[in-house]
Amino acid sequence: MKNIIWHNHKITKSDRIKLLNQKSFIIWLTGLSGSGKSTIANKLEVELYKRGYLTYLLDGDNIRHGLNKDLGFDDKSRVENIRRIAEVAKLFLDAGVITISAFISPFKNERKLVRELTKDFIEVFVDTPIEECIKRDPKGLYKKALNKEIKNFTGIDSPYEKPDNPEIILSYKNSVEENVNKLISYLIQKGYINDK
Ligand SMILES: Nc1ncnc2c1ncn2[C@@H]1O[C@H](COP(=O)(O)OP(=O)(O)OP(=O)(O)O)[C@@H](O)[C@H]1O
Ligand SMILES: [Mg+2]
Repeated sequence: MKNIIWHNHKITKSDRIKLLNQKSFIIWLTGLSGSGKSTIANKLEVELYKRGYLTYLLDGDNIRHGLNKDLGFDDKSRVENIRRIAEVAKLFLDAGVITISAFISPFKNERKLVRELTKDFIEVFVDTPIEECIKRDPKGLYKKALNKEIKNFTGIDSPYEKPDNPEIILSYKNSVEENVNKLISYLIQKGYINDK
């Protein structure tokens, strides 16, 4: 970019992760509204905290209250939403923090963009069928979407593109605890965290 010059800092990511004694990576939960992303992410964060890891959870609605409050839900806004989140996630990873995100992130392309931008990217597909999400409807949003009170609702009148090759698939048939254990086992097995 013209007249904007990257500044190299003396303290780097590797200094910070040494200080924190952890690796930094991003666990990216994707799935329909009501699939369980926030519920699983919260439990996972508690589990990592108990094990002594510094984490940060980026969650859809909260980000839309602040950083992305100027964005809507049309396709262009959704892409910009994710692009900004990816940049924020990148800063957290550079800070040495284990980052967990819980966004519907319905498009393959946007998830690809985050993967490329953040590198240590673990894509987790929360595979809950739409019928089950409609049954749960924790925020009453499906009811509104089906009544056409909300437009561009993922799974109703906006597409959800399932991941082809996610690192992990979580089944809605498992309890939240079982799914969190599956994630923790994966992180240990791949050497992202220690078994402690
Ligand atoms: N096995 C399960 N795993 C996760 N959540 C479950 C399970 N069984 C029931 N639930 C319930 O399903 C709901 C999932 O809602 P949650 O807010 O976590 O979804 P979300 O994917 O974050 O949706 P949104 O994209 O709208 O934020 C919660 O009310 C949770 O208690
Ligand atoms: Mg959520």
